[in-house]
Amino acid sequence: MESNQMEPSSKLAVVIMAAGKGTRLKSRRPKVLHEIGGKPLLAYVIAAAGHVAPPQDTYAVVGHQADRVKSAVAATGIRFIDQPEQRGTGHAIQCAREAIAPYENVLVLSGDVPLIRPETIESLWQFHREQNAAMTILTAVPDDPTGYGRVVRHAIDTSEVEAIIEQKALTPDQQDLPEVNSGIYVFRTAPLLANLDQLHDQNANGEIILTDMAGLLRATGERVVAIQAAETVEVLGANTIADLVALDATLRASTASRLMAAGVTIFRPETCVIDAEVEVEPDTVIEPFVQLLGRTRIGSDCLIRSYSVIENCTLGNGVLMLQSCILNDSIVADGAKIGPFARLRPGSDIGKNAHVGNFVETKKVKLGAGSKANHLTYLGDTEVGEGTNIGAGVITCNYDGVNKHRTKIGNGVFVGSDSTLVAPITIEDDSYIGAGSCITKTVPAGSLSVGRARQIIKEGWAAARKEGQKPKQ
Ligand code: UD1
Ligand code: CA
Repeated sequence: MESNQMEPSSKLAVVIMAAGKGTRLKSRRPKVLHEIGGKPLLAYVIAAAGHVAPPQDTYAVVGHQADRVKSAVAATGIRFIDQPEQRGTGHAIQCAREAIAPYENVLVLSGDVPLIRPETIESLWQFHREQNAAMTILTAVPDDPTGYGRVVRHAIDTSEVEAIIEQKALTPDQQDLPEVNSGIYVFRTAPLLANLDQLHDQNANGEIILTDMAGLLRATGERVVAIQAAETVEVLGANTIADLVALDATLRASTASRLMAAGVTIFRPETCVIDAEVEVEPDTVIEPFVQLLGRTRIGSDCLIRSYSVIENCTLGNGVLMLQSCILNDSIVADGAKIGPFARLRPGSDIGKNAHVGNFVETKKVKLGAGSKANHLTYLGDTEVGEGTNIGAGVITCNYDGVNKHRTKIGNGVFVGSDSTLVAPITIEDDSYIGAGSCITKTVPAGSLSVGRARQIIKEGWAAARKEGQKPKQ
């Protein structure tokens, strides 16, 4: 465990329970690293925690594949607590005992409850202080409470809670209890620590469960209260693949709504796959079945036609993307026209008003303003100046089987169709390359290069052949 240098003045620690295996997912990947909206569940919970506590006061309890979980979120700067054996949510908090001791209060979050909003955490935290409670439980009343722990209130219309009863421990007449435990709580640290060793695994779950803390605190005369979340979806957990997929759909729908509210037109948004962090400017139109992934940014007045998949790209304003383009880690400047069926691999930088047409593949390419590669071309490790025309079927031969080499093409160049440019090679400004050329030497500025076998003509050859005569050589 880390955290020998603790800050006694800090009021609130956050503990994120993230050690579980996620047996019900039937997956080799740890549960909290399963993704919705293109990011791991745990990343959402850490981001939400960040609104009430800095990273140095935030602790993730990790156990199952701990190293993998730690490295996935290490960049956030949070701290980690090991729970080598996962003996239940109560045991997870027992493992955090030393870390939380210096804080007055502890917010406990579940690593598999990702849609919790900072505003809701804020109200939970505020309610906890107003109520002067030892334990404050965030709850909801979902359509189907099956599977969740149920909150038993002291009486209707009171915020006071008697106990949380896990699904497995419900008696037949408790099955209909509608209010569920979200797995999100705030505790006052002193009474929590004073009772932590009382938790045991002699229960229907056979685990040391944190939910028993409600009854325990209540029995010692402490105040235990509950507050409902503003929206039920915030407290839904992801225990199964079906749960994950449902949360993903909810999150993507809200991302699409956010973009539409900001002036983006998304036709048939339910068919689009838009990751949580994607940004799009107003007056851009997105057609059905488009995927916008990762850290993609799209400017205004763009048209993204159907079936394109755009990941970690930045598009300027007024970009026209025709159907079925695949773009990764690339930049497209204002007014450029891409596709249909273009593939921009990482490092493609397409200039203002440039065109990349059908069946064109680019990789580590800078295509200057107004330059065009409209048909059936491969440009790799290449820099192209401005106003240059790359004819149909032009190929940069950038790989010699061992190393990659660069191609440099200047401004105002005309590269004839079906030419192969054998790198390393330079094609200087305002030069011409005849169609069908294999270019292996520098093409000087303003020159014409033709590198192809000469055409030979044999008059009367075809007729002679038909008549059975041996054509003249
Ligand atoms: C838990 C609650 C239940 C609540 C539900 C809300 C308990 C016993 N039950 O049930 O009342 O309605 O969440 O979603 O707490 N974890 C650890 N270490 C462990 C076990 C679990 O860190 O030893 C972590 C898991 O990785 C997970 C979280 O704690 O992120 C919750 O555990 P999980 O097994 O999913 O609990 P639920 O059955 O969903
Ligand atoms: Ca869960």
